[in-house]
Amino acid sequence: MKLVDVIAGARPNFMKIAPIIRALESRGKANAHIDYRLVHTGQHYDARMSGEFFTQLGIPEPHVNLEVGSGTQAEQTAAIMVRYENLLLERRSDMCLVVGDVTSTMACAITARKLCIPVAHVEAGIRSGDWTMPEEVNRVVTDSISNLFFTTSTIANDNLRRAGAPEAAIHFVGNTMIDTLLVNLDRLRPPALWEDMGLKPGSYFVVTLHRPANVDETNGLIELLQAIAKGTRGLPVVFPVHPRTAKALREIADIPANIYLVESQPYLEFNYLVKNAKAVITDSGGITEETTVLGIPCMTLRDSTERPETISVGTNELIGTDPAALKPALDRLFAGEWKSGGVPEKWDGRTGERIVAILADVMQVNLLE
Ligand code: UD1
Repeated sequence: MKLVDVIAGARPNFMKIAPIIRALESRGKANAHIDYRLVHTGQHYDARMSGEFFTQLGIPEPHVNLEVGSGTQAEQTAAIMVRYENLLLERRSDMCLVVGDVTSTMACAITARKLCIPVAHVEAGIRSGDWTMPEEVNRVVTDSISNLFFTTSTIANDNLRRAGAPEAAIHFVGNTMIDTLLVNLDRLRPPALWEDMGLKPGSYFVVTLHRPANVDETNGLIELLQAIAKGTRGLPVVFPVHPRTAKALREIADIPANIYLVESQPYLEFNYLVKNAKAVITDSGGITEETTVLGIPCMTLRDSTERPETISVGTNELIGTDPAALKPALDRLFAGEWKSGGVPEKWDGRTGERIVAILADVMQVNLLE
C-alpha cells in the first residue's frame, strides 16, 4: 500500500482538497493501492475559518493536526516545517500532495522534498508576477521542487514549461475548487443575515478584502470603503470580514452606512450570497474563479492576477488598487455593460477524479529515480 499525504492549512485549501479526498475515498480498483493521510497544519484554526468548512464540505477529521497557529511568514513556515518533518520521520509517506499557494503549501513541499519524498502540486504553474505577495513566492518555490504538476489552465502549463518542468510531469486537469462549487450548488443556503437585511437577488453587492496591500494601511482602506459605498449607489454591500481585515477595521470609526460588516461566512452561505449578488468586489483569487463559473460580475482590486482565464474567458476584470477606478467600473455595471463570460476548459466538476487517476498511475513508479 502506498501512502499519500494530503496537506491542508488555510481556508482556500479546504475546498481544493475536498474532491481529491472524495476520489481517494471512492476506492476504485485503479486506486486501491493508495491510502491517504490528511494533514491539517493548523495555519487557519478558527471554527469560522476552518472547522465549519470541514463539516460543510464533508471532509473527514484530519488524521494529524500540526496546530501551528498564527505567526509571521517565517514563524509559520518554520513551525510547519519542523512539525511536518517530525511526522514524516515517525511515519514516512510515499507522496506529499499540496494544493494552492499558502504558507502551508510551500512549507510542506520543502520538508517532503528534503526527505526525498516526491511532491505533487495541485494548482501548479499560476503566476501573478507580483513579488510583493507571499503567495507568489510560495508558488514559485513549490513549483521549483515539485515532481508532479496538476494545472487549472494551459497558461499554467506554459509557465511551467518555461521554468523547465518536464513535459511528462505536467497534467492539465481543471480546477478542484470548481468541483466543490458544482457539487454543492444545490446545497447553497442563505445565511441568517439574508432575512435580517431583507436581501433580494441581484440587488446587493458582496465585498471581500484581505490582501495586506489593501487592508494593512488604515487610510487606504477608508478610501476604498468610501469609493465602494459611493459607486454602489446606496445598494446594500455585504462585507464578510476576514480576521486580518477585522484588525484594520477596528481603527475605522465611520463605516459608510450601506456597507454591512458581517462575520466571515461558511462555504455554503458565502457562495449563496455570491450566486445571488449583483456583483462581487474582491482582492481574492479563488473568488474570481467562483464568480466566473456562477456568471456573476467580478471586480478585482489588484493590479495583477495569477488567474488570467477569469478575465479572458470569465466575468472578472482587474480594477487596480486606486479607489478612483471603482466608480467608472460600477457605472458600466449599472449601465448593463458588463461582459457575461464563459467557463474555462475542464472546469467541469471532474478534476478530483482526474488527479487521483493520475496519482494512482504514477505511484506505481518511483518518481525520484
Ligand atoms: C492566508 C493565505 C492567503 C489566503 C488567505 C485566505 C498565505 C501566505 N496566505 O492569508 O493566500 O487567501 O489565507 O484566508 O498563506 N487568523 C485568525 N483565525 C484563523 C486564521 C488566521 O484569527 O483561523 C488571523 C491571524 O492571527 C492573522 C490573520 O488572521 O492575524 C492572517 O492569517 P494568516 O494565516 O497569517 O494569513 P491570511 O491573511 O489569512
